[in-house]
Amino acid sequence: DNRYTGLINRYRKHLPVSADTRLISLGEGNTPLIRLKNIPALTGKNVDIYVKYEGLNPTGSFKDRGMTMAVTKAVEEGSKAIICASTGNTSAAAAAYAARAGIKAFVLIPEGKIAMGKLAQAMMYGAITLQIRGNFDDGMELVKQVAAHAPVTIVNSVNPYRLQGQKTAAFEIVEELGRAPDYHCLPVGNAGNITAHWIGYCEYSTPIGEKVTDSCSFCHGDCQFACSPVISSRPKMVGYQAAGSAPFVRGGPVKNPETVATAIRIGNPQSYDQAQKVMSESGGWFDELSDQEILDTQRLLAMSEGIFCEPASAASLGGAIRDVKSGKIPEGSMIVCTLTGNGLKDPDTAIGQCQNAVLKTIDATLDQVRDSILHTMGE
Ligand code: F0G
Repeated sequence: DNRYTGLINRYRKHLPVSADTRLISLGEGNTPLIRLKNIPALTGKNVDIYVKYEGLNPTGSFKDRGMTMAVTKAVEEGSKAIICASTGNTSAAAAAYAARAGIKAFVLIPEGKIAMGKLAQAMMYGAITLQIRGNFDDGMELVKQVAAHAPVTIVNSVNPYRLQGQKTAAFEIVEELGRAPDYHCLPVGNAGNITAHWIGYCEYSTPIGEKVTDSCSFCHGDCQFACSPVISSRPKMVGYQAAGSAPFVRGGPVKNPETVATAIRIGNPQSYDQAQKVMSESGGWFDELSDQEILDTQRLLAMSEGIFCEPASAASLGGAIRDVKSGKIPEGSMIVCTLTGNGLKDPDTAIGQCQNAVLKTIDATLDQVRDSILHTMGE
């Protein structure tokens, strides 16, 4: 049976599960890697840009990759409840996978600072949703403390199974391209995802300096899916933050993080040291984007490629475009940008920035509809 049934089943040899582990899955992973057609030319440089559209996961973000693993292991270990702090996407994923498993989910979210779609998800999937008068970093500290006092499993990315699930995005990219990209750009908040991708690329490549063999030493030739020989190179990892929430650019925690990209409104990343190590090992860097640059990129991607991501996700592409233009990313490069979440998650921000441009009220008459078309087409 070659039906795709989620990333644990696909990559089970590379994940900490056994033959009789009960998998908690919603068919996550296997997301499209889309080659951009129109944006690369706008940079004036010759580059290939692909976007990994993680917004097409079951709950609309990359968090499903980590959550299928974390909840599978929590259930295997007998846990009856999970908990997380979240800027919205982790809570949506935790709520969904807990519902699937038949256990409880408790989610701590910053009051008034999560996108509407994400709040709707947590509530709809039946999570016990605790809005705190505080930010993500406050919630994260509370979650770590309460886990010592109550029977709950933390499913934030401090749970190592989360990164194990998320590393599979790198596997998929290498299998699809037949090689590693030269640069992999990601938005960075808590810094779990960039760390997980690096784990994935490292597991899928020969140790630097060793000879590449023809047979796949990754799956040892008995993978049921087509998979390419182990690769000899790894990408430079590039992490982009929102300027108001950029601890990696400031060189340490930021007290009151702010940004329109609420998903990455984080001042004290839990995987800070790991992500620093990713940079030194991969030869990549961190940079920041203003809120306006983030929103402009989100709009550019939607209007010129037909791909709708949430604001935080646009930071990866916005940063890549800037670094291509400046030459920091050289011509001829193959670049992958992760689009971490679906644009539908945050309708308010989207409508807010498009309203005047494309929304117009008219009478329900043939004349007015026709005139609108003729006016737009310049006739
Ligand atoms: N993009 C989106 C859409 C996110 O939701 C997040 C993190 C990130 C990027 C950053 O990933 O934290 O691994 O560096 N969201 C978390 C949450 C914090 O609670 O949903 P990271």
